[in-house]
Amino acid sequence: MPIRTLLKMGDPRLLEVSRPVEPIDSLALAPLLNDMWDTMKAANGAGLAAPQIGVMRRVVIFGYQTNPRYPDAPPVPETVLINPLITPLSRIIEHDWEGCLSVPGMRGIVPRFDKIRYQGFDQYGEPIDREVSGFHARVVQHECDHLDGILYPLRIEDMRNFGYVDTLAEQGIIKLQPCDDES
Ligand code: NI
Repeated sequence: MPIRTLLKMGDPRLLEVSRPVEPIDSLALAPLLNDMWDTMKAANGAGLAAPQIGVMRRVVIFGYQTNPRYPDAPPVPETVLINPLITPLSRIIEHDWEGCLSVPGMRGIVPRFDKIRYQGFDQYGEPIDREVSGFHARVVQHECDHLDGILYPLRIEDMRNFGYVDTLAEQGIIKLQPCDDES
């Protein structure tokens, strides 16, 4: 059963702080990572954090070549990031619409650092150290927030910029994607 049930907002586990993975044992991690990729891709997600499937560990995955939920977004390399550390590289904050597989059917405008450095380890225990900006930086910040029990609605500054995908699309505020009706 590789596709796992996604926890939804309201489940208290999504508000917990997850524990680091130590040591990084590739063999032991493989089943979890397979399930995470299958679950994320089945839901057309841009990323997924382990706590979203009820595993309270500091593991996130993200990346795609093309994503039907975010058709205008540039590709992000498929990445496993374990025990991540994020460092903002600029004070510039971008505001843009975000969704989350744990908050289905909704979108909100969330502030994120435009440019960040992220560090951590891949599934083989090899270090990752990247500087990224734009949508890539947004996805990493969103996924890593899950490891600290933060769902994106907690970061919305003006709750008037939070609503249902279908209604926002009817108003022409966001573009409805073919896959959006499933969530
Ligand atoms: Ni999310």
